[in-house]
Amino acid sequence: MSSIQICPSILNVDRAHLSLEIEKIQESADLLHLDVMDSIFVPAFTFDFEECKSIIESSKLPVDSHLMIANPDEVAAEYARIGSKSVTFHLEASKSPSQTLRSIRSAGARSSIAIKPNTPVELLFDYLDDADMFLVMTVEPGAGGQSFMVDMMPKVRILRDHISNSGLSRWIQVDGGVTVETIAQAAESGANSFVAGSAVFNTDNPGEAVRALRKVAERTFRA
Ligand code: DX5
Ligand code: ZN
Repeated sequence: MSSIQICPSILNVDRAHLSLEIEKIQESADLLHLDVMDSIFVPAFTFDFEECKSIIESSKLPVDSHLMIANPDEVAAEYARIGSKSVTFHLEASKSPSQTLRSIRSAGARSSIAIKPNTPVELLFDYLDDADMFLVMTVEPGAGGQSFMVDMMPKVRILRDHISNSGLSRWIQVDGGVTVETIAQAAESGANSFVAGSAVFNTDNPGEAVRALRKVAERTFRA
């Protein structure tokens, strides 16, 4: 069985208080979700490579790097080399997904591939051997604070069933609009890794928000 992973996203956290905010979730979260945007694959820009490096180096939590960048094939493994625990890139941006997944693993991180809402989930079936995790986006990548797309749930279920039938153990992550309400639908559909930005940091008690998310996910997860 896949264990439940709660991954707070620091996308909309005030940069001036980044380490203070991260401290609030240190005890309750599993991974810190780092959204890397390049202003090409998505309009926004977040962190450059050096900034990512310093966040990863100073984070006490393992870092889950989500690369929303064009041409990830050459650079994805670099994010593993600077210490990410997991590196996710987008299928839509990659020319050689299998090779890139393998390069991430060889560099010592968990390999992961993401799809945007309009991309068919069946395209991920080719990467069952090379990917440790699959990210099914539940919003259009590019910004925090959007609404959860419940119509992505059949994709998660199809993928979870396909993974189970193959006898492999793989993580499925959802990212975008995850709250205590929507997390149940994702967990029931077979997701075990959950990214949450607003639902964690736009609260008075981020640590408690993570615990609340985990509780619902543990209760509703269905393999
Ligand atoms: C969206 C990012 C998400 C985002 C989630 O492109 O990949 O990780 O920060 O934020 P919320 O939870 O607010 O939707
Ligand atoms: Zn993300």
